[in-house]
Amino acid sequence: MINYPDILHNIQLEINKVSERGQVARYIPELSKIDPHKFGMHIIDANRNEFSVGDSEEAFSIQSISKVLSLSQAIGLIGEELWTRVDVEPSGDPFNHLSLLEQENGIPRNPLINAGAIVVADILVSKLKNPKEDFLTYIQDISGDKSINFDPEVATSEKETGFRNYAAANLLKSYGNLHNDVDTVLDFYFHQCSLALNCKQLTKLFFVFMNRGKCLQNNTYLTTSQVKRINALMLTCGFYDEAGEFAFEVGLPGKSGVGGGIVALLPNNYCVATWSPGLNKKGNSKLGMLALEMLTTATKQSIF
Ligand code: DON
Repeated sequence: MINYPDILHNIQLEINKVSERGQVARYIPELSKIDPHKFGMHIIDANRNEFSVGDSEEAFSIQSISKVLSLSQAIGLIGEELWTRVDVEPSGDPFNHLSLLEQENGIPRNPLINAGAIVVADILVSKLKNPKEDFLTYIQDISGDKSINFDPEVATSEKETGFRNYAAANLLKSYGNLHNDVDTVLDFYFHQCSLALNCKQLTKLFFVFMNRGKCLQNNTYLTTSQVKRINALMLTCGFYDEAGEFAFEVGLPGKSGVGGGIVALLPNNYCVATWSPGLNKKGNSKLGMLALEMLTTATKQSIF
């Protein structure tokens, strides 16, 4: 039996000793106000036992973590057709780079970089009747938590400074890989990124990817094959140009966001979320990565 409470306690002690905590994201003004000293961590295992430490019930902006959820909803709606518009290869580039998009004629490398997520957002805008409301309902249903919502101030703040995302969307449009208006798609994208969740809620949401497509309430959202593909993308692309480092250090499929959150999972075993707002140079939570490295080392469990 793994003693999660002791392991989490030790992780928190180690994290508290670190003085260099990384930089909070500044390019979205609303995120620059977050206290870098926050740290939370929550685990839910396959038997629904839960363990937590620190600020695990304080909500933060999940940002790019939302890309896994929009991808999951889009796959549920259009299935394999999605891969005609987005590739499944790691980019080795930062999340907001555009040069590969131009070189590869408007087909984003994968759905977890910004350009790929904008194509996925375009698919949802085309397929959903009330895109923002229907996406939010999807999130609330999977997690079984009706209190989850967008943070409109964060969405507006990103819209005001989202120049690179406008560039990506316009480039996609010029290649015919964006079917709706740039503004409509980006409004959806900025809202999905603004979702505010805490670590506990995140693990309940990502339980579905740990549990072969069945959510916490035992409803099936994805086939085992779809879950395999989504988890593979998290492993190979979830941390952009640091995906190799995350696999090397942590050894789990996972996804980060510039709000400082990371969610990761060991299929059929447990799902874990961390929150520490300071980012490293690659835009991933510095102490979140350290905490997860300590977790998989202490438990001696990873997908490898
Ligand atoms: O589009 C953006 O730049 C942000 N809404 C999300 C970026 C992000 O979270 C990258 N992840 N580490």
